[in-house]
Amino acid sequence: MEKLHSTAGQNGNIPITEPERQYYFMEKARQIVQKKTEEIKRPLTFCVTTFGCQMNARDSEKLVGILEQIGYIEESDEEKADFVIYNTCTVRENANQRVYGRLGQLGRIKKKNPHMLIALCGCMMQELEVVEKLKKSYRFVDLIFGTHNIYKFAELLETRMESGRMVIDIWKDTDKIVEDLPVERKYPFKSGVNIMFGCNNFCSYCIVPYVRGRERSRDPKAIIREVERLVADGVVEVMLLGQNVNSYGKTLEHPITFAQLLQEIEKIDGLERIRFMTSHPKDLSDELIRVMAESKKICRHLHLPVQSGSTRILEKMNRRYTKEGYLELVSRIKNAIPDISLTTDIIVGFPGETEEDFEETLDVVRKVRYDSAFTFIYSKRTGTPAAVMEDQVPEDVVKDRFNRLLKEVQDISAEVCAAHEGTVQTALVESINDHDNSLVTGRLSNNLLVHFPGDASMIGKFYQVRLNECRGFYYIGEQIK
Ligand code: 5AD
Ligand code: SF4
Repeated sequence: MEKLHSTAGQNGNIPITEPERQYYFMEKARQIVQKKTEEIKRPLTFCVTTFGCQMNARDSEKLVGILEQIGYIEESDEEKADFVIYNTCTVRENANQRVYGRLGQLGRIKKKNPHMLIALCGCMMQELEVVEKLKKSYRFVDLIFGTHNIYKFAELLETRMESGRMVIDIWKDTDKIVEDLPVERKYPFKSGVNIMFGCNNFCSYCIVPYVRGRERSRDPKAIIREVERLVADGVVEVMLLGQNVNSYGKTLEHPITFAQLLQEIEKIDGLERIRFMTSHPKDLSDELIRVMAESKKICRHLHLPVQSGSTRILEKMNRRYTKEGYLELVSRIKNAIPDISLTTDIIVGFPGETEEDFEETLDVVRKVRYDSAFTFIYSKRTGTPAAVMEDQVPEDVVKDRFNRLLKEVQDISAEVCAAHEGTVQTALVESINDHDNSLVTGRLSNNLLVHFPGDASMIGKFYQVRLNECRGFYYIGEQIK
């Protein structure tokens, strides 16, 4: 086992500033990969598997960007790849279990491929017990790093290649943001853009503030520059990413609001659509509602996690709004932007949740009428305040509530979705339909999908589409000439 040893110091030519230092290690790693490729007479391949949220998906694009720079070729089948990277999530316990399960399987495959490397990164690696368990029971893992030093991937990988030993580098926190590293986008026409990292809210059930660290906003100029470059490279839609975008900019040397940032991004010529997530209700300003209402580019969709409809539970969750406050915010949004689509996250079975509390959640669902809702069973995360709260709700009670909530959410969203039937809307074509290759799949401003006749040449372009038939959560449509 080896803690990270850097070759810095032995060689005075290693840059100390970023990103130059990482480009230096990319070049060194590229030479090693090239040598190996010649030796075994075939290219080395990689497969990055992403668990969890859009933040992780964006981080994986950064890993892929670096790997391609180094000379690895993408392989979609994990079992055939020479280098497998799991970018992990730990927001709920079941995500961790999935990683251990799949890792066991990978270990068996690694025995048959002498060139194989396995790396683990992401939120799960920020938990001490996880790394201890990996060190003890999963000795075949080659490289472990966390969320704060992902920009160092090239350096860590090069260190592993040179040393041949397990490399572990986990940072507790950071105030550093490294710009201008390579990124390989999954879609040519749309992209996520990080605007901030970390979270300061400490909702009592949530592990994110512990594994993603303190909130830090990117410099608006760096964000604008990135979006301009993306647009020049063919991107027409961006998704601005942060755990709590509504508090963007508060900690900057020259503070600016999220609404002001949106207005700056709106000015970029060639950019057609702007999305963002996630919004915390407590920080959503009237300024933002106004900017959204006036905007031509910001999509008609807002993801506004409510978590619970009971003021008593919201307080125990440390969400800092009440049921009434949330409903009032929703009506201000709906009044200002009547065609807005609202989606949410809801947790069922938070410690101490009674039947009455749960009824309050159902009441919010009925009043807001969400376009869709992600429903989660409360998962106890060690180290969070809620994990030691009394009155954990019995499993059968939680399951029953979860099923009742799901039914309510699905019935309502089918009705809400059907309301657009017969209208003509703009769709950005994203792909060929998975099941029928005579159809393409397009995304509407409100985030719903429509399938309509078309071909691959339409991907990345906008079309006017009539929504002929609503099928629960999506439409079948036709292009209007
Ligand atoms: N248990 C269940 N759901 C959780 N979430 C976050 N932490 C937990 C937990 N411990 C949900 C919240 C959040 C979404 C990303 O995940 O609803 O909005
Ligand atoms: Fe977790 Fe709350 Fe931060 Fe969201 S706002 S990441 S739920 S602590």
